[in-house]
Amino acid sequence: MKISIIGTGYVGIVAAATFAEYGHDVVCLDVVKEKIDMLNSGKCTIYEPGLPELLTNNKERLTYTLDNETAFKDAEVIFIAVGTPEREDGSANLKYVYDSVNNIAKFKKSAFIVMKSTVPIGTNDKIVEYSKSLGVDFDLISNPEFLAQGTAVDDMLRPSRIVIGTETEAAKKIMEDIYAPWDCPKVFTNRCSAEMIKYTANDFLALKISYVNEIANLCEKVGANVLKVMEGISYDDRIGSKFLNPGCGYGGSCFPKDTKALHWLAGFNDCELKTVKAAIDVNENQKLTLTKKARGYFPSFLGLNVAVLGLTFKPNTDDLREAPSLVNIRLLTDEGANVKVYDPVGSEKTKEKFPTVVVCESPTETLKNADVCFIFTDWNEIKTLKPSDFDIMKNKLVFDGRNCFPLLEMKEYGIDYHGIGLGA
Ligand SMILES: NC(=O)c1ccc[n+]([C@@H]2O[C@H](COP(=O)([O-])OP(=O)(O)OC[C@H]3O[C@@H](n4cnc5c(N)ncnc54)[C@H](O)[C@@H]3O)[C@@H](O)[C@H]2O)c1
Repeated sequence: MKISIIGTGYVGIVAAATFAEYGHDVVCLDVVKEKIDMLNSGKCTIYEPGLPELLTNNKERLTYTLDNETAFKDAEVIFIAVGTPEREDGSANLKYVYDSVNNIAKFKKSAFIVMKSTVPIGTNDKIVEYSKSLGVDFDLISNPEFLAQGTAVDDMLRPSRIVIGTETEAAKKIMEDIYAPWDCPKVFTNRCSAEMIKYTANDFLALKISYVNEIANLCEKVGANVLKVMEGISYDDRIGSKFLNPGCGYGGSCFPKDTKALHWLAGFNDCELKTVKAAIDVNENQKLTLTKKARGYFPSFLGLNVAVLGLTFKPNTDDLREAPSLVNIRLLTDEGANVKVYDPVGSEKTKEKFPTVVVCESPTETLKNADVCFIFTDWNEIKTLKPSDFDIMKNKLVFDGRNCFPLLEMKEYGIDYHGIGLGA
């Protein structure tokens, strides 16, 4: 089938590569010239394991363009995968979605449009009405995406499920054809329920993380070990073993904005989502947990030599959006600390945000002469450090937001080591 995808970000480009892998012809459209130039010269625009190979292997079925007409003229189906960032009040900003709809309307009188972007419940219905006001007939389909950055390629090639929300038989049929090669559960429903599924899934995962983090904080106070506590509950099938890792808070482009957007939407509909609000509040506090603990040692961070290991919101991605590292680096630099940072892929983007930080090429270069070390991301390059690698610090004090190392081993080696929830 001839598919067009608007937006070549973390979702759009992975979707394009995956559709091409399953035999579809895909035209990718973006407004950022550098991205299209990179893709046309065979380079990948994001750090995502397995993606460069997938793009190269399917290059004869992939076209990249800045031109709307080229993107839309032959398309049988058009996917929208543009950003839906949060507004100041927490609601989703749909500017890029509506820009996309306006652009399609310039070249198509009728079209199947598939919404891959995460949009508030009711958005696709509103776009149908809006398109009528433009004099065009668009059939909107909700097809939310559940990929996780770092494992996005596998998540899209072999998804846990595909959710499809349609209002017409023709739309359902075309989606069945597109996804025919995928062998996974397919949930067909109406548009509104499909939109709701996406927010419900993301907010549930955010809730789970915040719950684990609150339990971890209590473990520290009462002398329990959260890792054992989580192992102990994980064997219960009703709970499951995934997403039970305590840490210094969730970040990224999805959980923070999708929790706030659903909370906002609930309020708009005279409902209160108390659990989701709690997840948001717990996370805001949790992001600062490492620097709060460090206050017990250093009432002021002025002049302190700080080593920061890990910057991206999770390993195996270059994405810094809402990463816990950022809010802490802001606090440290504002107070006059000397901050050195290391991340396998996220350092340069951090330097753009914080010109005074020193970017290091290795963890050991970062740790040299440091008074304190903060760990925000559990990259393999960081998790595989040995206790002796910390000898190079002036003061062997480590606050680890991802529990990369065994507490006992670090303590026995003489490192003043603080993980999350390791009260014992
Ligand atoms: N990143 C994830 O892990 C993830 C997972 C599931 C769902 N989502 C959702 O998918 C959507 C996209 O997320 P993302 O992380 O890929 O965003 P992104 O910011 O990485 O990419 C969006 C892309 O759209 C392009 N764009 C904006 N307006 C355009 C226009 N008018 N025409 C063509 N291109 C345009 C931008 O230049 C950018 O390249 C969001 O709604 C997000 O919530 C993201």
